[in-house]
Amino acid sequence: MRVLGIETSCDETGVALYDTEHGLTADALYSQVAMHAEYGGVVPELASRDHTRRLLPLIQQVLDDAGLTRVQLDAIAYTAGPGLVGALMVGASTAHGMARALGIPVLGVHHMEGHLLAPMLEPESPDFPFVALLVSGGHTQLVAVEGLGRYRLLGESVDDAAGEAFDKAAKMLGLDYPGGPQVAKLAAVGDPTRFRFPRPMTDRPGLDFSFSGLKTHTLTAIRELEAAGALDGQARADVARAFEEAVVDTLAIKCRRALDDTGLKRLVVAGGVSANARLRERLAAACEKRGARAYYPRGRFCTDNGAMIAYVGAQRLVAGERDDPGIMQAVPRWPLETLREP
Ligand code: KG4
Ligand code: ZN
Repeated sequence: MRVLGIETSCDETGVALYDTEHGLTADALYSQVAMHAEYGGVVPELASRDHTRRLLPLIQQVLDDAGLTRVQLDAIAYTAGPGLVGALMVGASTAHGMARALGIPVLGVHHMEGHLLAPMLEPESPDFPFVALLVSGGHTQLVAVEGLGRYRLLGESVDDAAGEAFDKAAKMLGLDYPGGPQVAKLAAVGDPTRFRFPRPMTDRPGLDFSFSGLKTHTLTAIRELEAAGALDGQARADVARAFEEAVVDTLAIKCRRALDDTGLKRLVVAGGVSANARLRERLAAACEKRGARAYYPRGRFCTDNGAMIAYVGAQRLVAGERDDPGIMQAVPRWPLETLREP
């Protein structure tokens, strides 16, 4: 089955073709990051307008790369949520329109299920069951994954997501959007011993996260340095380092706990923050100690992309799932735990 995947939930237009016989045969991405950077964050209306401009040419590009024409498609999968509703609508309406014109099935996919299963696109993919750490701009969750659609939420952030915290810390440090990679770059030249920031919610049992206190702590540290006339380049790097260490350490502590609690030996890490090198280092060490193994999507599939949507869509479509052709889905809030086996 040849499935076209469409992702438009936020600021990346992603399109890919997944063939259940030959795997991923094409994928293309247009990132709007530069456009939103000027505003310091994603402007929803601009995002929707840009998806409208980019989507059809990207679909054509993917078809050309895969050496296919539209009529050779067997189904279409699109991100139905969670995300920005206007942005989601661009993908959803295009998918439904194309599917109707071609007389093929169409299916709305959960964006986070895409991130969760993105490592399945790699040559050495994890078998079920595994623990997954989902860390993106909108989500921080630990999930026990028993199979496709069998997700048990172990813990999640009670306030800011880890990526959001990185983006806010970046703003405080005067860095550009999206902040995660910039904070990481600055942190690399920071002194890890100069400041120690708190590791929120690690001193009590449980697998929930909280990052808003850390945000306040970071702001206070910056203000104190500023007031003392000591906020030079090195101090900013040292603050970035202390912040990154605190987030990474917190995530690593909870991952260790999740592996120990479940007795599972596989850890999948996905979502934008999974690109963070310090996080990968720390999780590798935690896994090694437990005879466990960490799995990641390749770099460009850590952040939003069409490939993960095409993949998840293909798994569910093959199992017979599809949308009602008359009902287009665009769901801004959609808890992962409500998903079911196909
Ligand atoms: O998964 P994603 O592309 O979009 C969402 O669905 O949210 O994740 C984007 C998030 C942003 O908050 C970005 O700052 C963060 O991932 N991020 C990073 C790194 N690369 C991206 N955070 C820390 N370190 C990085 N290297
Ligand atoms: Zn995402």
